Amino acid sequence: MKISFTKSGLPASGSAVVAICKGSKLPHGAAALDKAMKGGIVRAMKAARFTGEKGKSIDILAPAGTRLDRVRVIGLGDAKSLDELTLQDAGGSIYRALSREPVVTVVVDTLPGCPLPAVSIAAEMAFGARLGSYRFDKYLTKEKPEDKPKLKQLRIACDGHIKARQAYAPKDAVVDGVFMTRDVVSEPPNIIYPKSLAAECRTLSVLGVKVEVLGRAEMQKLGMGALLGVAQGSSQEAQLVVMQWNGAPAGRGRNRGQGPLAFIGKGVTFDTGGISIKPAAGMWDMKWDMGGAGTVIGLMKALAGRKAKVDAVGVVGLVENMPDGNAQRPGDIVTAMSGTTIEVLNTDAEGRLVLADALWYTKERFKPRFMVDLATLTGAIIVALGHEYAGMFANNDELSANLTAAGKAVNELVWRLPMSDAYDKKIKADAADIKNISNGRDAGSIVAAQFLQRFVGDVPWAHLDIAGTAWSNESKPTIPKGATAYGVRLLDRLVADHYEK
Ligand code: BES
Ligand code: MN
Ligand code: ZN
Repeated sequence: MKISFTKSGLPASGSAVVAICKGSKLPHGAAALDKAMKGGIVRAMKAARFTGEKGKSIDILAPAGTRLDRVRVIGLGDAKSLDELTLQDAGGSIYRALSREPVVTVVVDTLPGCPLPAVSIAAEMAFGARLGSYRFDKYLTKEKPEDKPKLKQLRIACDGHIKARQAYAPKDAVVDGVFMTRDVVSEPPNIIYPKSLAAECRTLSVLGVKVEVLGRAEMQKLGMGALLGVAQGSSQEAQLVVMQWNGAPAGRGRNRGQGPLAFIGKGVTFDTGGISIKPAAGMWDMKWDMGGAGTVIGLMKALAGRKAKVDAVGVVGLVENMPDGNAQRPGDIVTAMSGTTIEVLNTDAEGRLVLADALWYTKERFKPRFMVDLATLTGAIIVALGHEYAGMFANNDELSANLTAAGKAVNELVWRLPMSDAYDKKIKADAADIKNISNGRDAGSIVAAQFLQRFVGDVPWAHLDIAGTAWSNESKPTIPKGATAYGVRLLDRLVADHYEK
């Protein structure tokens, strides 16, 4: 679906949407429409006992006095506390309700009592509508035409529509990134495997992203024994993809001796568990065990798409964790690029092995200003936080605070969990420097984070465990069920708020 912005005015045909705040008088456009309908909006609101509550709405079909098919009146709640997220949800709900209409015009005005200007209201609603319009339907060959969305273009009519279009443009690039993440995460594991996902990364070069792909031979030379050990039971060759976006204006950032911002993703394109094999029930979920990589890829697309004034690098470690005759065994000892030896006691704790080499490589090559990694790392984080917050672990309070604030702003929440030497002791091994699991099941997500910390040196670092947030089994207005692309908006916001100034 595309979004277009047109100058204010009532549509002559199709469907119209007007928004009102709780208890306030009708905004300009809604009042004009009400007048054309001879008071039909006010009467319908009374009849439905609807006063503009957030999330509520009414539909008026074939309203007299107009040639419209329908008028939808949506509630935004209290005008004074109206925020971006409410407007995005409203946009998503509009799409959901009217996606089977061919032509829809949202009439946007300044809202009495609301501090946000009409231009922002229009841009946020457009952002939410497009976010909510995502569908992964390419393999549905038998879907009836009447069940498919008809809405190809959503029109937003508002005063200052040129400014609204400009305000929306960078958000449209963020949606492009979100959709790319949702696409690669939704694809089945016979379609997305390390080489095909690396090929997806290569498509970013048209946006000016420099993409490099390392294969098994290059990684062997670099000594990436931890990552390669995970991949050795699969017939699919491992890949490490490095994506660089250099958007910082010359004379800033780059030239002050500061490295790029670095984002690192776990890209296990399918996680059977390896020889420590997982149970059959639910194993299909492990197609989205590349969700961290998917988010990093979509983030790079968003940053490049909106030409972010920042230098950023995305590094994704892509492997398939399979149990063939060459697979690594529980008890194998591998040597990571850092030189650390690791006793692999459970081949299903593979994400940390992949990230160990990806983090160390990123740190050594780029001397980054910070590293943020994303990984569907532990089932334990779902036990702890469910699907509402991602687990956050950090060695730096400022980075952690910035991530927390960005998460609140875009409703991709993070909750920081502790780290300490006492937890680190749990990965001391008998036969190697460290082991990839602890003895018990307790504090599983923290133990995994302690393992990662062994490979970040003193670079400011945060780890987001997104096992509970990368995939959703229920739909929200801006997030249809399935791949959520959690983290793309969060990290885009982190960059925009703190690193482009
Ligand atoms: N990819 C899984 C974690 C996961 C579980 C992600 C559920 C999404 C949903 C990870 O590789 C894994 O298997 N972790 C093990 C670690 C254990 C062996 C220490 C786990 O969480 O059970
Ligand atoms: Mn696993
Ligand atoms: Zn995994």
